[in-house]
Amino acid sequence: MAPIPPTDAPQPIKDVLDSIEKQFELSDERLKQITAHFVTMYRRGLQHGHEPMAMIPTYVTGVPDGSETGTFMAVDLGGTNFRVCEVQLLGDHKFSLKQKKFKVTEELKTGPAVDLFDYMASCIGDFMKELGNPPEDECLHLGMTFSFPVEQTALGAGRLLTWTKGFSATGAIGNDVVQLLQDSLDKKRVAAKCVALVNDTVGTLLTRGYLTGSCFLGAIFGTGTNGAYVEDLSSITKLKKLDAATRKADKMIINTEWGAFDNARHVLPITRWDNALDRISINPRYQAFEKLISGMYLGEIARNILIYLIDLPPIPGSNPPQHYLFRGHSTKKFNTQYGFDTELMSRIKNDSSPEAVRELLVNEMGFTDYQISDLDTQIVAWICDLVANRSAALSGCAVAATLVQCGYCEVGGGPGSKEVDSALELGVDGSLVEFYPGFEEALRKSLRAIVGEKMEQLVKVGMAKDGSGVGAALCALVATKNEQHS
Ligand code: BGC
Repeated sequence: MAPIPPTDAPQPIKDVLDSIEKQFELSDERLKQITAHFVTMYRRGLQHGHEPMAMIPTYVTGVPDGSETGTFMAVDLGGTNFRVCEVQLLGDHKFSLKQKKFKVTEELKTGPAVDLFDYMASCIGDFMKELGNPPEDECLHLGMTFSFPVEQTALGAGRLLTWTKGFSATGAIGNDVVQLLQDSLDKKRVAAKCVALVNDTVGTLLTRGYLTGSCFLGAIFGTGTNGAYVEDLSSITKLKKLDAATRKADKMIINTEWGAFDNARHVLPITRWDNALDRISINPRYQAFEKLISGMYLGEIARNILIYLIDLPPIPGSNPPQHYLFRGHSTKKFNTQYGFDTELMSRIKNDSSPEAVRELLVNEMGFTDYQISDLDTQIVAWICDLVANRSAALSGCAVAATLVQCGYCEVGGGPGSKEVDSALELGVDGSLVEFYPGFEEALRKSLRAIVGEKMEQLVKVGMAKDGSGVGAALCALVATKNEQHS
């Protein structure tokens, strides 16, 4: 059962809900305005360094066509888990993958970076042992997916600009993350050499390209959000020094780091509940776009709104006093920062019946049956949907801006500089797009409003599962080839 607007609520409750709804509404005009600003920021980031939207050149100069072959190790750090995989590229758009996931604890995320990288090296060593170590004189080449803003200086080197998504390990910012991993591998005598560094969005783009033969954008809508697309090398005017392998190319994949779009807050529809989240986050004023969109934050925005409703004084003149939500009660869990996980929003969207929502609030949040009315369950489901819909609509702006930047159309739907005669592949990955019911439809609705139906219909959205692993393996392949030719 899908969420229904709480239309039967008493008038004072309806009034408060209406005012919340207004703050989450995005008219078509507003979506277009945000998209136009997005394109301006894209262009600014391509011209100058040190822009919030970093537009990072990745030194990856092509999208695979599916014929690539070889066996590579790939590792992936990006959120809750550290993944180590062995990827076999079989050619013919196929691959096989063996992988192991290792948990990244809060201590590792927030302690000294050297502990984090030592841990990663030990996990790689353990996995290699399980596979059967390579012969003594052989050193495995591995690609690393590192899903944070890293300023790359070559395919296999890059300086961490800042942490995101709850990471704050000390001693990493400003340093080459490939070197940090290599130091730990050498210290622990693990016979592996990290030859390529890649963002998860780039991995997604490459993997979708490998699977289908083409891809214009790789996007993550998961714990964090970001996108990578193929840019003309001549437009990346801030890129002054090019290595021999890059000089021959005419395209390069750009890691946009769009999570930092509009940190200055010129156009984003930021509400008091977003501000409450930002103020006590570990990176206040940063990742403004990501904080409206991604899985790490949506549950927290919804929780902030619901807490606001709980805290409102009873409806004036009501006797006995009537509260706006849960009879004015909260719980220890529900009072905890990040206590209401975005995954619960997906479950509520899946089944918004009063019984299902009540059961979830009791079991997961510690409310009692007595505290929850049927109307409360409706309000909770409706608020969750409001937050998720805004996320999907804003995600549509990012996709639309990329279509415009690639020359496929203008904001508003007018023709761009390039003819489009076949489907445009958009590779996606992440828990939100994979598990939040209706996320893609809501994104498409927004895209339609910005670039028109004809263009929207040309965009083909496809999951690039295991994109990080396959993408890192593909980059390790390129790096190894470059090494052999130099
Ligand atoms: C990071 C990006 C990453 C995205 C998705 C963001 O927080 O800054 O580098 O691609 O999350 O994982």
